[in-house]
Amino acid sequence: MIDTLLSGHELHKTYGATPALAGAEFTVGAGEIVAIMGPSGSGKSTLLHCLAGIVRPDSGTIRYDGGDLTAMSDTQRSALRRSDFGFVFQFGQLVPELTCLENVALPLRLNAVKRKEAETKAREWMERLEVADLAGKRPGEISGGQGQRIAVARALVIRPRVVFADEPTGALDSLNGERVMKLLIEAARDTRAAVVLVTHESRIAAYSDREIVVRDGRSRDMARAT
Ligand SMILES: Nc1ncnc2c1ncn2[C@@H]1O[C@H](COP(=O)(O)OP(=O)(O)OP(=O)(O)O)[C@@H](O)[C@H]1O
Ligand SMILES: [Mg+2]
Repeated sequence: MIDTLLSGHELHKTYGATPALAGAEFTVGAGEIVAIMGPSGSGKSTLLHCLAGIVRPDSGTIRYDGGDLTAMSDTQRSALRRSDFGFVFQFGQLVPELTCLENVALPLRLNAVKRKEAETKAREWMERLEVADLAGKRPGEISGGQGQRIAVARALVIRPRVVFADEPTGALDSLNGERVMKLLIEAARDTRAAVVLVTHESRIAAYSDREIVVRDGRSRDMARAT
């Protein structure tokens, strides 16, 4: 039994007349990898954004490490995201003006780590993700798969306690997708980071410890058939 690190309870969120979440439940333990599956428009990304403190739910509670995320101010939540959370999205979302090395070092720089130390750590993570040779290139000069590995390095560089990944392999072919997934999971296991992984693909979800399915803004646990 793992202690719960992050949980969402009775989460509701409506955009205009569109209900995105209608009583969703979620828990992830320290170091646990949970996949969120479900059809397009079912509320997966909204759930991830609420859990990460990016979107405020209309009602419900989100607890992280003993605290109440829903009771925090915007400033407190951004500070928490910078110090404790890592993010990987479908299309890298790297800063185009920065080199790959500067992109990976950026979360550390935002936490006031000095440039030299930040870049040393960034280089170590780029080596682990097998993209050290891209340090001086800009995101416009690399492939999609390389970009996602840079994005994974950037997510892990602060040694987050939770990595939020929304379709991290969604824009990659299956070979590159598997490669990025393996590297992400290995890095998360090594650093004991929990992972909240949104994916359409059951092959990608198979890397998780547990799967939940979201349908019409509601979630349920899936028993593994193994
Ligand atoms: N910022 C927004 N403004 C208005 N409606 C939104 C917004 N974000 C999401 N929605 C709506 O909320 C519902 C849930 O959207 P969400 O993005 O969470 O789905 P999803 O499961 O991630 O879908 P996909 O698999 O296509 O990414 C959808 O009906 C969507 O149109
Ligand atoms: Mg989505």
